[in-house]
Parts: sequence; structure tokens; C-alpha cells
Amino acid sequence: MRKTNSREIALKILKEIETELSFANETILRFSKRFSLSDLDRRFITEIVVGTTKYRKRIDYLLGFVLKKDLLSLTPWIRNILRMGIYQIDFMDRIPHPAAVDESVKLALKFGHKGTSSLVNAVLRNFIRDKNKIGYPKDKSEYLSVYYSFPQWMINSWLSSFGEEDTVELCRYFNRRPNICFRVNSLKADLGEFEKALKNSKLKYQRGLYLENFFYLKSQVELENFLPFQAGGIYLQDESAGLPVLLLAPKPKENILDLCVAPGGKAGFMAELMDNKGRIRGVDISEKRLETTRENLNRLGIKIVELICADAKEFSFSVFDRILLDAPCTGLGVLGRNADLRWRKKSEEVKRLAKLQLEILLNTADLVKRSGALVYSTCTLTREENDGVVEKFLEKRDDFKKVSAKNFIDKKLVDEKGMVRTFPFEHKLDGSFTCRLERI
Ligand SMILES: C[S@@+](CC[C@H](N)C(=O)[O-])C[C@H]1O[C@@H](n2cnc3c(N)ncnc32)[C@H](O)[C@@H]1O
Repeated sequence: MRKTNSREIALKILKEIETELSFANETILRFSKRFSLSDLDRRFITEIVVGTTKYRKRIDYLLGFVLKKDLLSLTPWIRNILRMGIYQIDFMDRIPHPAAVDESVKLALKFGHKGTSSLVNAVLRNFIRDKNKIGYPKDKSEYLSVYYSFPQWMINSWLSSFGEEDTVELCRYFNRRPNICFRVNSLKADLGEFEKALKNSKLKYQRGLYLENFFYLKSQVELENFLPFQAGGIYLQDESAGLPVLLLAPKPKENILDLCVAPGGKAGFMAELMDNKGRIRGVDISEKRLETTRENLNRLGIKIVELICADAKEFSFSVFDRILLDAPCTGLGVLGRNADLRWRKKSEEVKRLAKLQLEILLNTADLVKRSGALVYSTCTLTREENDGVVEKFLEKRDDFKKVSAKNFIDKKLVDEKGMVRTFPFEHKLDGSFTCRLERI
């Protein structure tokens, strides 16, 4: 049997994330399947890949003090061996420093030559010797950006919106291992029975903080091997993602439109509230993502969703009772779940996406029947993409009004304007925004 070299696999994944801009979660999953990794190996590799990716900026800053040349002048292999080495030495308590150095040197010989392995050896040893002498930038925003490892434009935007204390909390939340949160699918599982089974399984868990059919798993489990997951009894979803559905409040037999449906998390919850009766039309621009949506909905036993590949900016149809627009956004509320997301996002995207969101929302308006509801939601934190879009929409469409979320959702999550806004630092949920509009 082939012996798995976990660090070598972690290196290959990191190199692919950097040079091919692959998504970290998907790449880890693909390599796990390809190498049939044990739970232990997969956890170790995930920790190194996710940690090294999230802390890339801080690690590169630290390397700048012990590497005598430009990090970018090295091959991606050697660069990522050094990054992984620093991560193991500075962030992982259980790895002895000599082991981290030796393993890195071996990799540098395999993916480089004698010269590069000597370089890796010298750099990591110097780092171990001098790491406590390295100072961080004095400027507040630069310091937060390097220490917590986020692009500076994000830090600046959070500092001006939330202040220093909450910015630090936000950074810490996104750098932590994300919690495992899921919804119990009542079409396939009874909530009471499910909880009884969970108790008997000795797995550690916690009930949802705000929504009764959500749970947090505190034990480490590979979800694909978790029986209720395979059987469609649960769907992995943060509690914040359930809120737009509760605000839309779909009923059995209604005719619903879910624009931007993929991968189907909210459509699944809607179908559940509708007791699998009525009709949901789910639109998405990506055929590939619709394929995943189909698989997810099948697993959950959902029969009422018809999937349509189309551009929501131009989509037209007859009118619907209720519409959910879960818009494409910068995703700054879910940075903790996607290790590479912070490096992918550029500040210019905020403006571009706000324009797209407004275009889609305006096109959608005509598809809502009179007295029907339209819920607009995002998983981001920027004002431009959230209130900004809703305000501009209402300026152009005086046949719509904003309706307070207080009658639908736990008041702790509703702001003074009646909109749902979740912040990691305040509610311990991913960041999100939701607003209910009604056609007059
Ligand atoms: C935030 S995700 C939706 C998540 C989904 N509602 C759920 O709960 O699982 C945004 C989706 O919008 C889709 N999208 C982006 N631009 C679009 C457009 N112009 N028309 C339709 N879908 C679009 C993306 O493919 C992506 O699947």
C-alpha cells in the first residue's frame, strides 16, 4: 500500500490554490478522494492548507525578515514549502520545530534541488531563532491587516463601518475554524427523533442559537460519512442562511421564484416549509452549479423545484406569489468558511456587484404579483451591496414598500430599520443581510 505523505499533499494543494486560483475547499475534497485519505490525514492536511492560506499575508511578512531575497523570485513549490514551514512552527503547537524543518527540507529537495533545500533549512532555522524579535507595523490598519492577515482595503472598510474592537472580533471569527452548522430536513427526518439519535450517538452538539431546526456539531466528523447526511436528513447551512427563507415565509401550494438558486440551500428549506407542495422555479446562470443543486435537492427528497439556466438580469416569466433574490455578492460575511476568499476579492468588486444586484432586483420587480413579497438577501457586510441597493430600488419603484422583519424573525437579529443583519461579532453567526419588500 502506498504511504501517504500528508505534507506533500498539502503542498500540492497550496501550490494549486496559488497558481491556478483553485478553491481551497473543493481542492482539499478532490485530493482527499484521489488519495483516499484517512480522517486523520485529511484533518492534518486541512489544518495546514486552511491555516497557511488564511495567514498567507502574515506568514509572508514574517518570511520577509528571514529570507534575503524576494519570496516571489522562488518557484511556487519552494515558496509554499516555506509558508507551510512557518505555519507549522508558529501556529501549530503540537509539531516539534525540528520535525517541521526536516520535513520541509525533504520536500525542498524533492520539488527543487540541493540549493533550495539548503535555503529552506537556513530560512526556517533563522526564523526559529529570531521570531520573537520580529516587530509588526505601527500604523493601526496596517498592523491589523498583517497580524490578522486580511487585505488592507477590507480592514479599512471594517474600521470605518464597525470601529476597531468589532473589526478585531470579525478578524478573529473569520480566522477560527468555522463551526459545523446544519439544518434538519423535516421531509426526511423527524426533529425529535433526530435529536434523540444524536444524543445516543455520543456526538457533541448544540441546538441552533436562533432557529429551532438548526444544530451545531461540536465533534469532528467527516460529514460525507455521517449517516443522516447521506440519507438527506440534514443540509449543511449556517443559521444566517435560514433567515431569508423565514422572512419570505412561503406556504404550501404557492408559486415561488428563487433567483440565483445554486447550490439550492434556501430552495431546500423553502420546499420543506411548503411541505413539498406547490412549485418553486429556481434560476441560476451556471449550468455546472445547477447540476450540484439537482444532486442536493434529490438527496433531500425535494420534488417541487424546477431548475432553469438563465441570467437573472433578463429573466422573464409570469408573476409569482413570492420571490427570493439571494444575490451574487462579495461574500465578505462568509470569509471564515472559504480560506482563499479574502485573497480573491478586490475592492472594485463592491461597486460592480452593487450595480449587478440593483439590475437584477429591478428586473425581478415586475415578476412579483400585487401584494406579493420579494426578499433580497446577501452574505456580505458592505453597505453598498445591502441597504444601498434596497434604497436605490425603492427610489425607482414606488409600488414597493419595505416591511419590518420583526414579525418573522427573532428581534435580536432585526435592526431599527426592520432589516435583518447578522454580524459574527454580535450574533455569533456568519455575516448576512436580508430585507423584505412587498408590492403594493
Ligand atoms: C449566493 S449564491 C446563491 C446561494 C443559493 N441561494 C443557496 O441558498 O444555496 C449566488 C448564485 O448566483 C448565481 N449568479 C450569479 N450571477 C447570476 C446572474 N446574472 N443570473 C443568475 N444567477 C446568477 C451564481 O451562479 C450563484 O450560484
